Amino acid sequence: MTLHDRVERLREQLDDANYRYYVLDAPTISDAAYDKLLRELQEIEEQHPELRSELSPTRRIGAAPSSRFAPVEHRASMLSLANAFSTDELRAFDERVRKMLGEAQVGYICELKIDGLAVALRYRDGAFVQGATRGDGRVGEEVTGNLRVIPGVPLRLRERLRGDFEARGEVYLRKSDFHALNQRREREGAARFANPRNAASGGLRQLDPELTRERHLSFFAYTLVDPSPEIATQHAALERLRALGFPVNPNVRPAESIEHAIAFCEEWERRRDELDYEIDGVAIKVDRFDFQDRLGTVARDPRWAVAFKFKAREATTKLEAITVSVGRTGTLNPNAVLAPVEIGGITIRNATLHNEAYIAGNDIRIGDTVIVVRAGDVIPRVVGPIRELRSGKEKIFHMPTKCPVCGADVDRPEGEAMARCTNASCPAQLVERLRHYASRGAMDIEGLGDVLSEQLVAGGVVKSFADLYALDATRLASLERLGEKSATNLVQAIAVSKARGLTRLLVGLGIRYVGEQTAAILARDFRTMEALSAADEEHLQRSEGIGPEVAASLRLFFAQKRNRDAIAALAAAGVEMEERGAAPAPDSALKGKRFVLTGTLASMTRDEAKSALEALGARTSDSVSGKTDFVVAGEEAGSKLQRARELNVPVLDEAAFQHMLTEARSPTPQ
Ligand code: IVH
Repeated sequence: MTLHDRVERLREQLDDANYRYYVLDAPTISDAAYDKLLRELQEIEEQHPELRSELSPTRRIGAAPSSRFAPVEHRASMLSLANAFSTDELRAFDERVRKMLGEAQVGYICELKIDGLAVALRYRDGAFVQGATRGDGRVGEEVTGNLRVIPGVPLRLRERLRGDFEARGEVYLRKSDFHALNQRREREGAARFANPRNAASGGLRQLDPELTRERHLSFFAYTLVDPSPEIATQHAALERLRALGFPVNPNVRPAESIEHAIAFCEEWERRRDELDYEIDGVAIKVDRFDFQDRLGTVARDPRWAVAFKFKAREATTKLEAITVSVGRTGTLNPNAVLAPVEIGGITIRNATLHNEAYIAGNDIRIGDTVIVVRAGDVIPRVVGPIRELRSGKEKIFHMPTKCPVCGADVDRPEGEAMARCTNASCPAQLVERLRHYASRGAMDIEGLGDVLSEQLVAGGVVKSFADLYALDATRLASLERLGEKSATNLVQAIAVSKARGLTRLLVGLGIRYVGEQTAAILARDFRTMEALSAADEEHLQRSEGIGPEVAASLRLFFAQKRNRDAIAALAAAGVEMEERGAAPAPDSALKGKRFVLTGTLASMTRDEAKSALEALGARTSDSVSGKTDFVVAGEEAGSKLQRARELNVPVLDEAAFQHMLTEARSPTPQ
């Protein structure tokens, strides 16, 4: 084999490996084997400049930085899609289409609408020669060098097409790559990106392709420009693009009517979190090209396609102020006060900003225009500013040095994210602690909610948990907004809570790092408050999953006289200090198994499911890993479900989960 042949062979192998990886999603060689081939090719090209080629896979790295982007006129305008925000608008679109065509039924093709940015890729004689952004649709910016470093963009087509060829599609950033990128930036002290789209868009506009490469952008093709006559439908065009070596999104579905298309939209609005990339809707296109031609285009939007937009999860608004509240453990929590903005049908006025480091790390300033995200029932949060919109008047936020509630000094221990109020009897802490004590996962005192906790503390009626048990209905009924009946019910609920048992009491005490799971393990192993409070760190760590941090936190808690007194007072009030429930059956089939719960179950709350598992000796955790034994997926399960599939972790639906619980509860016949 001549050296020239060897080079060609290596390029083919590398291109093929790329194709299998990025297009077919079925890699055939390992990363290491790929790197080995690439290095061999690099070495030959280095020693033999005459064998170098712009189209070599080695050229995906290190093209020379350019100083500006040249304008590129698109040969055919890059269109956009008209939006539909409801299924009714989709039906109206379908009606217009059918009417104009005079057809009773028109077939569509449904594609996911990838949330990235559109680009056009030009090829000559099968070789990638020029790439451009959409720009205003008529003229874009030339970003050829940056597109070359995106591994999904083929440098050579898999067929040597004569003459000019153009494909269009979306450059985007995978969620996993986005998180890795932000983690890297955090380590380097750079501001995080607000969302994958912004990071992708910025990445494509780097003057140095090396910087683009570091973002790990991806590409999906969805338009074949000027298809030859034998390609008569969008469906066939996608097939053709794939055969030529372009990555095409696999989640495409032909729909024989608009109702089928609507079903596809609804399905993906539910399932969007399963994907490793963001989608913001579904593109619905008339499948037949002859129909598309007859329908034509008005202004920028083709009449033959429409974008069904999912409910928004993000919006842009003004950050008017940052307020600070004090949490149960004394943490100072910064909250965003926003100019009211609607996200997915709900008006948002406040959002979390987590902590001081988060605000600084994301370079968020008071007065900024910010991106706010609200996903499902999660508390909305500010993800980042739009720096381009700064006026210069924005103010940098500083945590107060005094507690906004009690005025005591604020402390931020070295290496910790949260600043804390140093006053243990700060009323803000007491209100939050009371609320937590009474919450469902803890002592479950119905009727003792936010407002009442605040009233009880503000009125000086309750200064400790034990004070709750001394309340009488007459005293309570004298409080504002509490009727006699509610007061009696509350006293009753408080009395009932005495018998909740050690696990829930431990949760209610709000010891740092002691959540429901840890509390259950401690209660199971130590049985009484007395035994637990006497255990040293070494003894504590003999319990499953109790590490040095938890052990130290427990010791610290019990070492404080204030806490011991509080517990003694609770005991004197008749609160049970033992775990009464039987220890879990030692032969429960689920003992030691690790579960992750995701989505909503119809028959029980997540807390109930957790307790049920813990009672059987199983453990639950929040994230799916190789150690997870089962993932229980309820309605609207999200990324955890996807992760489970990736890791081949068995997934149980609600019925299977119920069945498993029932089986595990009934002792196996010996
Ligand atoms: S078709 C005329 N298909 O959404 C057809 N667009 O406003 C033009 N997009 O600019 C686009 N996924 O950036 C099409 N499967 C898809 C798409 C898609 C994402 C973007 C594209 C376009 C915008 C539509």
